[in-house]
Amino acid sequence: KINLGETRPEKVKLGSGERSKEVDYTSENRGTRVRVMGRVHRFRQQKEVLFVTLRDGHGFLQCVLTGQLVKTYDALTLTRESSMLIVGEMWEVPPGAHAPDNRELHADYFEVIGKAPGGDDAITNVVQAKGDPQHLLDQRHLVLRGETASGVMFVRDAVEHAFNLKFHELGYVKVSPPALVQTQVEGGSTLFGFDYYGENAYLTQSSQLYLETAIPFAGNVYCIEKSFRAEKSLTRRHLSEYTHVEAELDFITFDDLLDHLEEMMCGVLEIVMGNPRIAALIKELNPEFEMPQRPFMRMKYSDAIDWLREHDIKNENDQPHQFGDDIAEAAERRMTDIINKPIFLTHFPVEIKAFYMQKDKEDPRVTESVDCLMPGVGEIVGGSMRMDSYDELMAAYKREEMDAGPYYWYTDQRRYGTSPHGGYGLGLERFLAWLCKQHTVRDTCFYPRYMGRCKP
Ligand code: 4AD
Repeated sequence: KINLGETRPEKVKLGSGERSKEVDYTSENRGTRVRVMGRVHRFRQQKEVLFVTLRDGHGFLQCVLTGQLVKTYDALTLTRESSMLIVGEMWEVPPGAHAPDNRELHADYFEVIGKAPGGDDAITNVVQAKGDPQHLLDQRHLVLRGETASGVMFVRDAVEHAFNLKFHELGYVKVSPPALVQTQVEGGSTLFGFDYYGENAYLTQSSQLYLETAIPFAGNVYCIEKSFRAEKSLTRRHLSEYTHVEAELDFITFDDLLDHLEEMMCGVLEIVMGNPRIAALIKELNPEFEMPQRPFMRMKYSDAIDWLREHDIKNENDQPHQFGDDIAEAAERRMTDIINKPIFLTHFPVEIKAFYMQKDKEDPRVTESVDCLMPGVGEIVGGSMRMDSYDELMAAYKREEMDAGPYYWYTDQRRYGTSPHGGYGLGLERFLAWLCKQHTVRDTCFYPRYMGRCKP
């Protein structure tokens, strides 16, 4: 090992994108001496040269070890995922050769900081699926180091950030509603209950009702919070805990709501695709991705029923679809995949939708409701206009056999200055499954929670 001496070279991050402005290496200052730290993503021994690709979350850097360095014990026993410090000069890669960001570090010093196991315990052996997808979920903490899993996490970060930017650009105020509640929003069958100091309480299914109470002091509002659903079915788009992007818009019409949704989704995609590093990741994960065309297709529920009948797509009882059927996941996805573009499915019957939804003035059998359906995933957004009449709301509690008592704070919104308003909830994991072309929402969250899994 050589001595670092007095001139300690500058510590830099590995990437070259927006997150890594620290690296100012260009061909003009070729030869800049730097100090990098990261984990061994991969390595390759070639005659007298050891190529180590180091990863630090900002990017990847190919490091070239030669001469005495290659003959050291640490170099000879190097393992993937070991953490290292490498010092050397930054060079552009020779013509014809390839390396991340077209550069490589010619090392003159290195240290292994934390040596990862090799042999049977080598990370490559531990994260092999072995024909069992559950094994990969048990090893999620290590799987996340891979390029696909981490790529989705980076896109997720960018998307969440873009929602915040876009909402603020449109003048929305963010609030943070409680997760521990004593009311339900989307029906009793998916409520997680627990003992709250001797009282019954639930994990929130949606922040919507609380968000509506922010309208009178804040106007248009949004939140990005966890929602919880005790889903008893194992599907590729259901989680027990998911991230819910929700907004409420004051003094609007149903058409305003649809226009806003379109603007939000496209605006977020524009922000995300405007970041070169993230755009490249999306291209890698989903090579066919194209920006959705505006306006989105708008289709009434009753027309969807006709469409499903015409295309001979049956309901869950293997019968032709009828008005009033809850369009099941499989049928919905087939329709979306055939149409192959975003769809606003609107005007669902009162009976199959939540108690709070506003009825259509022209056709009281249906609600001013919308689901946004995306190819490959199906429903990613659910929204509606909210009932704004006190009497109607009281009748709705009754119809749904709900005790109005615990909802007094929600009902009060209809007493103290009601307004025509509406909102929606977007499932972040589903939006990402569509954007990153992932088969399941289990791969678009950090640590998925669903029936049968609450670890690691
Ligand atoms: O359609 P949902 O149930 O609507 C609501 O909760 C409304 N209160 C939201 C609102 O208007 N503020 O859920 C909205 C979205 C769905 O379209 C879906 O993307 C996502 O939340 N979602 C789930 N995502 C993952 N796992 C689950 N179990 C989900 N349930 C709903």
